[in-house]
Amino acid sequence: MNVLLIGSGGREHALAWKLAASPLLTKLYAAPGNPGMAGEAELIPLDISDHEAVCAFCTGKKIDLVVVGPEAPLVAGIADDLRRMGIKVFGASKAAARLEGSKGFTKDLCARYGIPTAAYGRFSDAETAKAYVRQQGAPIVVKADGLAAGKGVTVAMTEAEALQAIDDCFSGSFGAAGVEVVVEEFLTGEEASFFCLCDGTTALPFGTAQDHKQVGEGDTGPNTGGMGAYSPAPVMSPDMVSRTMKEIIEPTMRGMAEMGSPFYGVLFAGLMITQSGPKLIEYNVRFGDPECQVLMMRLKDDLLVLLEAAADGQLSHMSARWRDETALTVVVAAKGYPATPLKGSVIRGLDGAASDGVEVFHAGTSLRDGQIVANGGRVLNVTAMAKTAIEAQRLAYEAVDRIDWPEGFCRRDIGWRAVDREKRAGVS
Ligand code: AMP
Ligand code: GLY
Repeated sequence: MNVLLIGSGGREHALAWKLAASPLLTKLYAAPGNPGMAGEAELIPLDISDHEAVCAFCTGKKIDLVVVGPEAPLVAGIADDLRRMGIKVFGASKAAARLEGSKGFTKDLCARYGIPTAAYGRFSDAETAKAYVRQQGAPIVVKADGLAAGKGVTVAMTEAEALQAIDDCFSGSFGAAGVEVVVEEFLTGEEASFFCLCDGTTALPFGTAQDHKQVGEGDTGPNTGGMGAYSPAPVMSPDMVSRTMKEIIEPTMRGMAEMGSPFYGVLFAGLMITQSGPKLIEYNVRFGDPECQVLMMRLKDDLLVLLEAAADGQLSHMSARWRDETALTVVVAAKGYPATPLKGSVIRGLDGAASDGVEVFHAGTSLRDGQIVANGGRVLNVTAMAKTAIEAQRLAYEAVDRIDWPEGFCRRDIGWRAVDREKRAGVS
């Protein structure tokens, strides 16, 4: 099969790595891709917002399947445009991508189908939103409705913070994403990421993970896209997975189909595991980044077969098998991230960093005069797999330390929750 992978981050490098291992693959293209993937894919400098150009490329190169990594092209309708041209695609339609593109849409779906989530209100003006905050009190959570690159959420510990967040949204800090605001109940518990592959009708459970959103050790400082992740998430016991499927995922699949926008692609549920069970914090319509990197390390089956089955509506015949090991990824970011990452510094020592059980996935890198340089906030994902989280963490940091990049930094405590759990259980 000829496959086109859309995207350029660490998530896409991990997908390229796994797709390249498929015996069914003839040729993999990545648009635009990154230099780390050059061993697995031919990099194509396509403007992915130009859907016509993407369709023309697919026709010209006889592409059998397009795999869309990031959410922005899905929200912009790339899957619809490809399907209209008769090109097979793994990814959500524009209508289904509202699960990520509009928090209000998802909350209303939850209300209609009895899906457990935080109590909420939707507001299109500041005064009514503020009145709701005053009535509910703090802590409380304020969210810009639309896509805000992970920055539109304020978990407000005081009423004043919540009121300020409302003003920020309506004053245009998040552009069009903030013209509507969701205010919701503050949930307590342990967070987990849960993934399913979906074919319009069937949702196939596709792994669990936990990530670290905050930039600083001990989960402190500003939120980021994710500074590291590990899989599986110990809190997602078989019972919790089956409750999540029954109470959250299945009603969502039913609801989307009933609304005329059946869900295809990756459904990524951000969950809070509360005392009363799993509650939905948010949906994404793509793999998590960096969660995808740890899932790909653990997946035993052929990814290409599974993604094609999802695109063909054939998932009810499929299963996904996982290695028992723990995979853990450490994000190495450019100094200054998340505010103003320094670009252009040279990264050395990459060839010697990977080893048995360790992969270095590239995220924000580019090639300059034959050297790999930093070209983004999150730059490398050093990913290890081992029998325990303790061992995976050790292997990952040993590999990080083989990389020579003084302008980069990482958190040194990725996986602490899983590591603590193992230590308490006497694992060494
Ligand atoms: P989101 O972008 O919706 O994933 O939100 C970012 C982070 O804010 C989540 O990972 C949670 O840590 C936190 N968060 C979002 N909604 C809530 C909530 N209702 N209660 C507590 N924390 C939340
Ligand atoms: N790592 C969180 C996300 O991809 O949304």
